[in-house]
Amino acid sequence: MFKITDKIEFVGKIDWQLRKFHGEQLSTNKGSSYNAFLIKSEKNVLIDTVWRPFVSEFIDNLKKEIDLNKIDYIVALHAEPDHSSALPDLLELIPDTPVYCTANGIKSLKGYYHKDWNFVTVKTGDVLKIGNNENITFIEIPMLHWPDQMMAYYNADNVLFSSDAFGQHYSSEFMFDDKVDMYELLSEALKYYANIVAPYSVKVTQKLKELQGLNIPIKCIAPAHGVLWKNNINIILEKYAAWANSYQENQITIIYDSKYGSTRRMAESIAEGIRNKTPDVNLKLFNAATSDSSDIVMEVFKSKAILVGSSTYNSGILNSIAGILEEFKGMKMKNKKAAAFGSYGWAPMATKILTNLLKECSFILMDPSAINAAWNPNSEDIAKCIEFGENFAEFVR
Ligand code: FEO
Repeated sequence: MFKITDKIEFVGKIDWQLRKFHGEQLSTNKGSSYNAFLIKSEKNVLIDTVWRPFVSEFIDNLKKEIDLNKIDYIVALHAEPDHSSALPDLLELIPDTPVYCTANGIKSLKGYYHKDWNFVTVKTGDVLKIGNNENITFIEIPMLHWPDQMMAYYNADNVLFSSDAFGQHYSSEFMFDDKVDMYELLSEALKYYANIVAPYSVKVTQKLKELQGLNIPIKCIAPAHGVLWKNNINIILEKYAAWANSYQENQITIIYDSKYGSTRRMAESIAEGIRNKTPDVNLKLFNAATSDSSDIVMEVFKSKAILVGSSTYNSGILNSIAGILEEFKGMKMKNKKAAAFGSYGWAPMATKILTNLLKECSFILMDPSAINAAWNPNSEDIAKCIEFGENFAEFVR
C-alpha cells in the first residue's frame, strides 16, 4: 500500500498484466490500476474498490490497514465493475456501512449486484463531515463516462478524487506524475481520453468550468486509474480543455485493409499525393487488420482528416474496417474531413458502403468522396490515386 498523504492511503490494485479492458475492446499495453483510497480521520472513509479478480486480495490488504468495522463510510464514485466489484464481499462483512453514491449510482449498483445496501444518495454540493473542519464535498459528473459518476473533494488535503476523469491505463509503482516519464504518461492519458471520454467532450468542457467556478485549491487529482496528478495539475487540466474542444493536430490518418495488396498500393499512392502538396502534414498509415484498434482511435482523434480504404469483399467491406468504423460512430467526432478508396474485381461496392458509413460518423466528405481501382491498379490507376491524394490535401488544407 502507498501513502498519498498522512491521512490518505492507496488501497487499490496496480494491474501490471492487464492488456485488454472492457472485455477485449480496449488495449491496455502498459497495464492499469484500480485506484481505491482510505481516508483515516475522525471518521474513516473508503473511496471505491477494485475489479473482480482482485477482490480477495483487496479485502485482505484492507484488513491490514484498518479493522473493517471501523470504516464509517464507503463512497462509490462510480458503479462500473472495475471500481465496485469488491462491494458485495465487503458489505457481507460490514453490512450496515453507508454507501454514498448518486441516485444513478444506486440504480447501477443495484443493477449489477441486486443488493439493497445502506445507500445514501448525494448530489453536487452535498458535504460529508468526517472530522473537525474536515469534510468531503461531492460533485456529480454524469456521463463522464457513465450517468452515475461523481467526484469527491477532501478539503483537509485538497485532494480531488476524480473517478475516471484524468485517468490513464498506465501501471507504475510510483504513485505520482512527477516520478514517471511525462511523455509516456500524457500519451496514455490521451489514448484514454480518445477511447473513453471523447464522446462526452461537451460535458468535459462544462465540468471544467464548474470546477474552476468552485474556486477550490487542488493540490492533487486522484483519478480512478493510473498515477495521481500532483506536479502537473495545470498541464492535465489544460490538456482536457484542449481535447474537449474539437481537438486536432496537423495530422492525416489513412486506414485500410487489403486482401492482395491492391488497396494497400492505393493507400500508399494517395499518401504520396498528400505528401506532394502538404509535406508538413504528419501522415500515418494503418492496416486495420494488423494494427491495434485503440491506437487507431487515438490517431483518428488527433487527426484533422482521414481516408478509409477497403477491398470489396462479398459485396461488402472487410471486417476490420467495418469494426473500426463502428468505433468511430460512437466517438461523435466533429470537424474532421474524410474520403474513401478501395479496389474491387467486378463491382465497386466497398467505396459506396464506406462513404455512407463515413457520413454516419459525421465526417465532412470531399467531392468526389471516393476513388476506385479494378483488380490490381495499373500505372494509370496509381497516377489517379496520387492525384486524389493531392486533391485531398487541398481539401484539408
Ligand atoms: Fe474505470 Fe468507468 O470505470
